[in-house]
Amino acid sequence: MEPGFWHDKWQSQQIGFHQSDINPFLVKHWESLKLEGKGKVFVPLCGKSLDMEFLAAQGHEVIGSELSALAVSQFFEAAGAQPQSRTLGEHVHHSAQGVTLIEGDFFTLDNDLISGCSGFYDRAALIAWPAEMRIDYVRKLAALIPAGTPGLLITLDYPQEALMGPPFAVSPDWVQEFIGAYFEVTTLESQDVLADNPRFVKKTVPWLNEAAYLLVRK
Ligand SMILES: C[S@@+](CC[C@H](N)C(=O)[O-])C[C@H]1O[C@@H](n2cnc3c(N)ncnc32)[C@H](O)[C@@H]1O
Repeated sequence: MEPGFWHDKWQSQQIGFHQSDINPFLVKHWESLKLEGKGKVFVPLCGKSLDMEFLAAQGHEVIGSELSALAVSQFFEAAGAQPQSRTLGEHVHHSAQGVTLIEGDFFTLDNDLISGCSGFYDRAALIAWPAEMRIDYVRKLAALIPAGTPGLLITLDYPQEALMGPPFAVSPDWVQEFIGAYFEVTTLESQDVLADNPRFVKKTVPWLNEAAYLLVRK
């Protein structure tokens, strides 16, 4: 989606994607990355996700990328933190309590910025893109992530014709074909989560699967 779409969503606080709890797949599968040491973890399109607090609590330095200044300020406010901010080129880096949120466009992030990262976490980032923009996202992610680096990807899949995204449906086949071009892909788990998603139930979407994948940059 174009930046204006997301700025409007944050302005009007229509942020149904935001979870009030840490994602259960993150808690269950993060150790599958087998990260030695704590290291930096990159979270693309991070919103104000509490998942970043979970990652920071594991001892990781968290680097998030987020377009919306509102999302950034709401994240730190909820954490009770007052970030230090500095402008670097067209991005503003806000840091506190082991978390740095880089406010600005993901697509113009400097590849070197993430070079020292030891892992990454994508929940509701890949699935935020319609099919025609998704490949560009995957290419940029692949350019940022160093070879050999593991990550956890969490997707949703459902019959796309039943609902207008975002979130957009991303099938296991799509992941294998397009993510698989840049990353080794292992399916960790897939679960029917329809009952937990009232928006999908209301629109009579017949099924909704959440899946977790272990990725390793080739
Ligand atoms: C569906 S939300 C997911 C947020 C978060 N991952 C979560 O699980 O709550 C997608 C987020 O990506 C941000 N976003 C969209 N386009 C972006 C871009 N080009 N660069 C950085 N962030 C972007 C939006 O502002 C929004 O907060």
